[in-house]
Amino acid sequence: MRAAQNSSLISPCLSIAPMIDWTDRHCRYFHRQLSPNALVYTEMITTGAVLHGDLEKLLGFADAEHPIALQLGGSEPEDLAKSAQMGEEWGYDEINLNCGCPSERVQKGSFGACLMREPQLVADCVKAMQDTVSIPVTVKCRIGIDNSEEYSFLEKFVDTIAATGCKKFIIHARKAWLKGLSPKENREIPPLRYDIAARIKETHPDLTIILNGGITNLDQLPEIMPQFDGIMIGREAYQNPWFLAELDHKLFGTPLPDHFEIIKRMTSYIEERRANAGMPIHSTTRHMLGLFNGMRGAKHWRQTLGGQAHAATSAEQLFKDAISQLNQS
Ligand SMILES: Cc1cc2nc3c(=O)[nH]c(=O)nc-3n(C[C@H](O)[C@H](O)[C@H](O)COP(=O)(O)O)c2cc1C
Repeated sequence: MRAAQNSSLISPCLSIAPMIDWTDRHCRYFHRQLSPNALVYTEMITTGAVLHGDLEKLLGFADAEHPIALQLGGSEPEDLAKSAQMGEEWGYDEINLNCGCPSERVQKGSFGACLMREPQLVADCVKAMQDTVSIPVTVKCRIGIDNSEEYSFLEKFVDTIAATGCKKFIIHARKAWLKGLSPKENREIPPLRYDIAARIKETHPDLTIILNGGITNLDQLPEIMPQFDGIMIGREAYQNPWFLAELDHKLFGTPLPDHFEIIKRMTSYIEERRANAGMPIHSTTRHMLGLFNGMRGAKHWRQTLGGQAHAATSAEQLFKDAISQLNQS
């Protein structure tokens, strides 16, 4: 069990979205090499898993991943409180409740985005967690669900939860569509409405409002940053991880890292995890395919990692083969 970082050290400026099957501990460790300052989120972990599963596998992470938030999925205040407590004991810096996932499986469990219909229940859940932990409890939601009203629905949701003392909301600026769209389709349809999320910040200046959805380019920052306390990046962080280095550079003034230094550090990480936890090489390299996007030789890098990592016996050799056609200029 580790001590959490002082929450005042977490900058709201930049965070990396929770993404099931993507942002596991190996991915987060890799992202940390690109962005020393981003707050990273775990994949959504259900309370059922936390209360009954293999804790080292579900909650374990490396010290280097700090600052790190644990995202929980659930709707039972007592289970969430117990899970949040375990998160705190494991050293997480923030507990986040998922109120944005539209998948059918999650709806069947009565959590995720369908919780937006029940703001009082969410408030009860948040309160139960706050009463149990001393780290911040935050909420990630959508701007609405299905045919909910444009702004008043979101405002009522935020107000009800903020009344518990919850100070931070991450708003994915797209409605959740609970029937007829897959979660993947619902990340493109219906259109993004940054204006609705911005109105929440404007009318609730004391709340920390983080904008999520469709941020893929540094050129968007001058318009977005003055309206929000920070941004959360999802798919672009995963598919084009260098974007994280650029964002950290822009927002925090961190020097841009060196690609080859990152590979060196990831080689050490993989070898350590292999030796001490029996981790297969591809468990980490699968998250690194986009590292050289846009550079000559990037295709060879992707193909080598994608095609040879399963059979590889040395991360160093695998990376050496994968970078053989790279030209940094
Ligand atoms: C593969 C994948 C898995 C996701 N899993 C989660 C999740 O576990 N919890 C969550 O709140 N959102 C999840 N999301 C949604 C993202 O956190 C984010 O809200 C969404 O992708 C929009 O941000 P973006 O346009 O920057 O990608 C997932 C998205 C993707 C692509």
